[in-house]
Amino acid sequence: MDNFCRDRHVTDCPYSPMDCELEGFRFCRRVVGLDRVSSTNDHARKLATECPDAVGTLVVADCQTQGRGRSDHSWHSPAGGGIYASLIVNPVVSPERATFVTLAAGLALHRALAEFLDTNPNLDVKWPNDILLDDRKLAGILVESSMRDGEMSWLIIGIGINVSQVEFPAEIRNRAVSLAQATGRQLSRHDILLRVLGHLDHGLDVLESGDFQTLRRDWESVSSFARGRKVKFFENGRPVMGITCGLKDDGALLVYTRQEQTVAVYGGEIFEY
Ligand code: BTN
Repeated sequence: MDNFCRDRHVTDCPYSPMDCELEGFRFCRRVVGLDRVSSTNDHARKLATECPDAVGTLVVADCQTQGRGRSDHSWHSPAGGGIYASLIVNPVVSPERATFVTLAAGLALHRALAEFLDTNPNLDVKWPNDILLDDRKLAGILVESSMRDGEMSWLIIGIGINVSQVEFPAEIRNRAVSLAQATGRQLSRHDILLRVLGHLDHGLDVLESGDFQTLRRDWESVSSFARGRKVKFFENGRPVMGITCGLKDDGALLVYTRQEQTVAVYGGEIFEY
């Protein structure tokens, strides 16, 4: 426990001098910077479980050896290639509204990355958490939580952004993209992360205030998947096809199916067809 709780955020943060700029954030107050870790989400989970003051900690790493995505996917995390960061936050919403945390994080990422991509308008958010550029994955979010007696104890918001990669492994080459590939420039992870944290701080503020309407509207305005997209998803192992028709008031994606019913999708993958 002592190892995890030791205050070592200033000297070994790979995005130094991050420590001074953290003063302005409400939800992110300190950084644990690591060269190499299995997964920043796993490290954050350990911190949250073992350290009483872990809320407000951002775990960042230069490289992950077992970076994880949703649905048991792995997340390509080479040293120096991307941003791998996990923020521990207090439950800002009730468990029924937990999807909104992912949506708020997606919106924050979209807003932050748009600032670095002013010449490329094809930045999109695919429900619930894929940040796409020209239909390729630029960033993703993995939100995990701990439940006790029906209440959430804490949330971990894991953020992965492809920043500097000029090449991806063959199996994801056609599906992934980095900021370096998109802009032809090597951007500073420090600068990007600060923008992300700024927008995330704002989004979590909005969530905590209970203004889900604003979040819903803002998310729908940046996602081409929110309405009118032909999608396929799986319900109890069976494929269902339909057209997206906005977000439900709890953050689920609404789909008007071929069977002429509006259904709410809460998890799993959405495929286009
Ligand atoms: C997804 O799109 O499926 C989510 C990808 C999330 C990747 C990030 S990288 C930092 C954090 N640590 C992990 O192991 N995963 C998340």
